[in-house]
Amino acid sequence: MTLGKFIAFEGGEGAGKSTQARLLADALTARGIACVVTREPGGTPGAEAIRGLLLGTSGAGWHPRAEALLFAAARSDHVERLIMPALEAGQWVICDRFVDSSRAYQGGAGGLGDAEVIALHQVGSKGLLPDLTLLIEVSPETATARATARDGEAADRIGGRDAGYHARVAQVFGALAVAEAARFARIAGDGTAEMVHRQVLAALAPLLGPA
Ligand code: TYD
Repeated sequence: MTLGKFIAFEGGEGAGKSTQARLLADALTARGIACVVTREPGGTPGAEAIRGLLLGTSGAGWHPRAEALLFAAARSDHVERLIMPALEAGQWVICDRFVDSSRAYQGGAGGLGDAEVIALHQVGSKGLLPDLTLLIEVSPETATARATARDGEAADRIGGRDAGYHARVAQVFGALAVAEAARFARIAGDGTAEMVHRQVLAALAPLLGPA
């Protein structure tokens, strides 16, 4: 059985990742490709429980190291119990965020450093990387407008961090996409969902083959 492909969407808050993940799943299904859509933090019961610990808004929040360990632990369960079994069954996995989020948020904006996040990912998930990571980039104005329309005043503990934190997240994502260009596609996310979806399909063409 051929392994399925592992596709991740990355980007800041309000970039439109989950909309694009759904549109991609519909397009793959229409081509007869079996796929699962999942998200991080979460995707399995254990990882969803950790999501509650990470994003709940009560309490002081986690120290940056503890936060990174919790994301890595959630990812480990997700990889072992959902992502690898699905890929091994030949399904494609479309994941809303993966380890590059930890590199941008905890490693970059949170100040932990990239090497530490990579080390945690090696322990937790044997360093698994997606076949392709689609980085959706939007202007800060679009991101704020979309996140406010979705969350109002109810942003989660990480989404609610200040503008400087989110600017650093965006900057690190961009730097990763340049440094590791072979496994990234940069997608301009300010247009309509349909316009963005067309770019996603174009980026995936090498993996999809002829329609
Ligand atoms: P979510 O509601 O899924 O946000 P979004 O819709 O913007 O993707 O919440 C996930 C939050 O967790 C988001 O603020 C990004 C953050 N996060 C990290 O800080 N590190 C990580 O490794 C992951 C996967 C998410």
